[in-house]
Amino acid sequence: MPQNEPTTATTGERTGGTGPGDAPAGLENLLHETRAFPPSSGFAAHANAQPGLYDQAREDRLGFWAQQATDLVSWRTPFTEVLDWSQAPVARWFGDGRLNAAYNAVDRHVEAGHGDRVAIHFEGEPGDTRTVTYAELQREVSRAANALSALGVETGDRVVVYLPMIVEAVVAMLACARIGAPHSVVFGGFSADALRSRIADAGAKLVITADGGYRRGAASALKPAVDAAIAPKEGAKPTTVEHVLVVRRTGQDVAWTDHTDVWWHEAVEAADVQHTPVWVDAEHPLFILYTSGTTGKPKGILHTTGGYLTQAAYTHRNVFDLKPEDDVYWCTADIGWVTGHTYVTYGPLVNGATQVIYEGTPDTPHQGRWWEIVEKYGVSILYTAPTAIRACMKWGSEIPDRFDLSSLRVLGSVGEPINPEAWMWYRRVIGGDTAPIVDTWWQTETGAIMISPLPGVTAAKPGSAQVPLPGIVADVVDDDAHPVPDGGGGYLVLSEPWPSMLRGIWGDLERFKDTYWSRFPGIYFAGDGAKKDDDGDIWLLGRVDDVMNISGHRLSTTEIESALVSNELVAEAAVVGAADDMTGQAVVAFVILRGEHASEAETDEGSAAIEKTLRDHVAQQIGPIAKPKKILVVPELPKTRSGKIMRRLLRDVAENRAVGDATTLADSSVMDLIQTGLAKPSSSED
Ligand code: WT7
Repeated sequence: MPQNEPTTATTGERTGGTGPGDAPAGLENLLHETRAFPPSSGFAAHANAQPGLYDQAREDRLGFWAQQATDLVSWRTPFTEVLDWSQAPVARWFGDGRLNAAYNAVDRHVEAGHGDRVAIHFEGEPGDTRTVTYAELQREVSRAANALSALGVETGDRVVVYLPMIVEAVVAMLACARIGAPHSVVFGGFSADALRSRIADAGAKLVITADGGYRRGAASALKPAVDAAIAPKEGAKPTTVEHVLVVRRTGQDVAWTDHTDVWWHEAVEAADVQHTPVWVDAEHPLFILYTSGTTGKPKGILHTTGGYLTQAAYTHRNVFDLKPEDDVYWCTADIGWVTGHTYVTYGPLVNGATQVIYEGTPDTPHQGRWWEIVEKYGVSILYTAPTAIRACMKWGSEIPDRFDLSSLRVLGSVGEPINPEAWMWYRRVIGGDTAPIVDTWWQTETGAIMISPLPGVTAAKPGSAQVPLPGIVADVVDDDAHPVPDGGGGYLVLSEPWPSMLRGIWGDLERFKDTYWSRFPGIYFAGDGAKKDDDGDIWLLGRVDDVMNISGHRLSTTEIESALVSNELVAEAAVVGAADDMTGQAVVAFVILRGEHASEAETDEGSAAIEKTLRDHVAQQIGPIAKPKKILVVPELPKTRSGKIMRRLLRDVAENRAVGDATTLADSSVMDLIQTGLAKPSSSED
């Protein structure tokens, strides 16, 4: 671990698997955080969200949501029913209303006379730019919708989107929404194998991809992964995909399959600019987004239209204090994650915002790239992840200091707990000591922000997401589902349904009930540990299950273990998320080699070669984001008498801590064996 990094109070807590009651080292500091930053009176006076919003929602929660749905979303057929919870845990919100998501995101702004407003300032990694107004977006989305129909995509058919962060990614999602074809966006960093399983699970008819995208200064191919994902494979069912629509982004050579592959520019340019949106029921599926769970198989999280759009627009307006005429908003997330769905595609566009979309990484071609973009477009609202903030902190304040960041007035954080040091740096160096920070807690499953300060109302505490938004009911409970008192710790739950909640796991109702609704019957279990401080504010402490959080992205220990054991070198594998100063957690794998390969790890070169083979194997099976940072070859794994791997003990080893209570191990000598084998200089630092 780098020695010159500020130590963080929270990195120690965001490890899954510990009981929420155990306070890991550092937690006491965290909860004794006494700094608070109230909004300035100027900000508070003009904020969209006023303190009365909490009372209004408390007095009549359903009436409050009905009001938001009416004020922020346009309905073709107005709803008369707010919530039907009779089929719990599958909710129906605004069930008899009809609407269209793309109409809400685009057309209605043009109809209201805002066609000339910039919807998207696009900045490509190589420096190419493109400005898209709402009127232009309407034409392009309409054409793309016609092109999808011409390719046989009908309302209800699923479309997989596998694209870089380019304008077409947003257009593709909206074109799907326009014809009522649920999209399933797969992050471009996932491998062909991961793409194949998502295409198969969703039963997708069409894949929208690109020849490639720009990543760290070079063109990186995407289409070959699609070709591999839909190619016939022994033991796999024939693909459901009929066509692949290919955006030309980099101009690199691509293999071409006639009758299947279609160029986006040819199909879209040939299509009519007039298109009538397909009006769908409020509960019509809008998208499926795959996320890792505690088993090896990713879950297809299902979101529907009316409730999702309502909460997307409501949170985007109130949490970021969006003023659509004045603000320039920038969320740095990729559309492959839920943040890119709700806070790039849907929330901002439904609210008629002007936003920046940037294709590349923060340090290409130089470490000031983000700040250059903020200055260039006058970004006023920035939404990003703690891991990026920590990277910028490491590169040094002198880099952002070279740019004019005075346009920034609201800063958001999402994806993992933000340590107070990073929070303070974000506020001081990026926010000029004045811009409020909103630390927003939510999940793929919740669809939109659930717990967050309100920027004109809440006195913000560095490191805490603090309060459920008006309309949201969250709590911290003990093992018996009893709310813990202020100062206590337990599990985060959501006690009442909310409009943008998931409606299920695609094709697996039982898994949906079992995963979220069985731990505490009737209430939603988020999988996170949390504490309440003495003021009752909520501090998120990380996952309590076998899910890791790497740079704000969710990865499953089991999924990586399955990938590792599918390699012929490996007999058994155990994966843990170890605290990491930069990425929050890092993937550390412990592997037992198969007998015939065991001796190969005895030399340094041998074990380096094995480590490389296995890292590449995981990248091929899941994607580069899942590559273990460290792979340790061990002779045994610590297991309980019932055969369950005790990841807690492995985490102690991975984090260079004294190994905790090992009395429940079937064989108590295993930990000695592991540690003796690992006692090399590289892993012996404190
Ligand atoms: C998990 C959800 C929400 C979009 C990005 C991640 C963690 C998320 C925070 C936060 C502490 C956070 C939780 C949650 N998380 N935001 N502000 N403070 N933890 O979506 O991949 O579905 O992951 O991310 O552990 O359960 P996701």
